[in-house]
Amino acid sequence: MTHITNEQRQRLIDAALEARQRAYAPYSNFPVGAAVLTEDGQVFGGCNVENTSFGLTNCAERTAIFTAVTAGHRQFAALAVATEGGFPPCGACRQVLAEFSDDLPILIVDTRSEGQVKEVSLAELLPRRFHRE
Ligand code: THU
Repeated sequence: MTHITNEQRQRLIDAALEARQRAYAPYSNFPVGAAVLTEDGQVFGGCNVENTSFGLTNCAERTAIFTAVTAGHRQFAALAVATEGGFPPCGACRQVLAEFSDDLPILIVDTRSEGQVKEVSLAELLPRRFHRE
């Protein structure tokens, strides 16, 4: 895993919190924000986008990754996810992250204590993942 600077870390956390403000979550009332840092230092945010047909909901982490990929990025240095309570990415999002990275630091932000960010790694969250190559 590449080392990220404190400045990049803070930028990523702020972007996840900002993206959370734009969450579309009228069904769960559980806004989630995420942000991904690309290897070349750019930050892309994403929020959860729900749907009246619940299964169509897109999680914040996947929105962030898909936005970055759409902008031409495939190499990532870190991801932050912000929720009230500080939860790690769901299983589906872990697999999507693993498509682009063997391991990745994941910053878990609890909006109730923004100053105390937890850090886990993708390899820790998704050991022995499905991978054909
Ligand atoms: N959600 C995310 O955005 N990311 C996760 O990792 C887990 C769940 C969203 C989906 C849904 O809009 C809401 O949180 C409640 O499950």
